[in-house]
Amino acid sequence: MSAEAVGIESVGFYVPRYFVDMRRLAAARGADPDKYVHGLGQHKMCVAPPDEDVVTMGASAAHLALRDVDESEIDSVFFATESGVDQSKAAAIYVHRLLGLPSACKTVEFKQACASSTVALLAARALVASGMDRKVLVVAADVARYELGSPGEPTQGAGAVALVVSRQPRIMSLEEGHGAHTEDVMDFWRPNYRREALVDGKYSIKVYIRSLCEAWKRYHAATGRAFADHQRFCYHLPFTRMAEKAHAHLVVTATGKHAAREEMGRHIDAGLVYNREIGNTYTASLYIALCSLLENEELPASGRIGMFAYGSGCLGIFFSGLLTAGYREFLHREEHLRQLRERTELSVAEYERMYHFRLPEDGRRFEVPVHRTGPFRLAGVENHQRIYEGTRPRVRPDTQSQHPVAAETTC
Ligand code: COA
Repeated sequence: MSAEAVGIESVGFYVPRYFVDMRRLAAARGADPDKYVHGLGQHKMCVAPPDEDVVTMGASAAHLALRDVDESEIDSVFFATESGVDQSKAAAIYVHRLLGLPSACKTVEFKQACASSTVALLAARALVASGMDRKVLVVAADVARYELGSPGEPTQGAGAVALVVSRQPRIMSLEEGHGAHTEDVMDFWRPNYRREALVDGKYSIKVYIRSLCEAWKRYHAATGRAFADHQRFCYHLPFTRMAEKAHAHLVVTATGKHAAREEMGRHIDAGLVYNREIGNTYTASLYIALCSLLENEELPASGRIGMFAYGSGCLGIFFSGLLTAGYREFLHREEHLRQLRERTELSVAEYERMYHFRLPEDGRRFEVPVHRTGPFRLAGVENHQRIYEGTRPRVRPDTQSQHPVAAETTC
C-alpha cells in the first residue's frame, strides 16, 4: 500500500431481521416463481419492521464497521439515502449521537437516488486525501418500496452499509480517476407526498446500461485503464440479473467482443450472493455487493475491482479500487453471515401488515411495537420527534430514550 493511499479501512452491513421468500411471494401474486428466482435473480427480500428505519439500520451498520476503528478520528459522517426520515435534519446526526461520535464531526445527508453513496464515498476520499479529515464514516441505508402487486414489488428490500474511509485502507484503496454520466430522465422517482416509488422499470434498465457505457468511456479516457486491467466488477443491483445484463454491455463497449457466460460469471458472480438474499437496498446495494465479492471469493492483493454506481434520474459513476494485501482479515464475514442466517421468515400476510404500518402524523405520543432489531430501534414518536433507543448495553446511557424495551410483539 503506498503512503498516499486512501480508501476503505472497514466495511460492515446490517439487514433487518425479517424476510419474505420469493417463491411464496410469487405464489401469492399468481406469478411463476421462476420469474422471480431466475428471471430477476432474487431468492429473498428483507423487510424492515415498524421499529426500523434508515437511522436504526445505518447506526447498526456503522456500529459494526467501527468495531476495530479509532472513533476519535472520525471527522465527518456522510449519510446517503433516498428514504430519509426528515426533510431538514440529516440522518447522520441521529447516527452520530447513537454511536457517541466526537462533537467536532461534520454531519450531512446526500441524495441522488442509489448513486449518492458513491458521491459520498468519493467526496470522503477527497477530504481525507486533502488532509482536511482523518477519517470519514460513510453510511448508506434504504428501504426499497414499490406498490403491492406491481412489477417492482419482488425487487424490494431493506438494509444499510457503513464504510470508514481513511489513510489506512486495510481493505481497498480508492484509485484516482472516475467517469460520470448525468442525464435528466424520469425512470424512477418519488414525489414528497408518496411512500412508494414511481418507476418505469424497463426504461430504467435501458438508462442504467446507457449510463454504464458512457461512464466507462469517460473512466477509460481519464485513467487509461483497459477492461483487462480489472479482475472483478461490482454493480449496483436493483435485482441481481441486472449485473448480467449490464456486464454483457460493458464487455462489448470496452472490448468490442462478446464474452462467454462462464467468463462473465467469473467477473461478477461472487458479488451477487448476498444481494440475492437481501433484495434492493438502493444506496447500500453496490457496497453490499462489494462485501459479497470480497467475502465469497479470495482475490489477489492489488487486484483491481471496477465499480459501477447507478442512481435513477439519473447519474452513473464508474470508478475502481485496489485490494490491500491481507484484506480478508478485516472483513466482518461471520457477522454478515450470522445476520442473514438468523432472520425470521414472514408469511405474505405478515409482510403486508408491516408494509401498511404507518406512524401517526399528528405529533401525538406513540410507542412503536417491539420487533426483532439490531443494536438500535425506533422506540416511538412524540411532539413530531422520532425517539431512538439502544437495545444493548454498549450504547451509552445518554443515548437511551425513556421508553422501556418491551417484549416482541406484532404490529
Ligand atoms: N422463468 C424464468 N424467467 C422468466 C420467467 C419464467 N417463468 N418469466 C419471466 N422471466 C424473465 C423474463 O424473460 C425477464 O428476463 P430478461 O430481462 O432477461 O428477458 C425477467 O424474467 C423479468 O421479466 P419481465 O417480464 O421483464 O418483468 P417485469 O415486467 O415484471 O419487470 C422489472 C421487471 C425489473 C422492470 C421490474 O421488477 C421493476 O420495475 N423493478 C423496479 C425498477 C428497477 O429495478 N429498475 C432497474 C434499474 S435501476
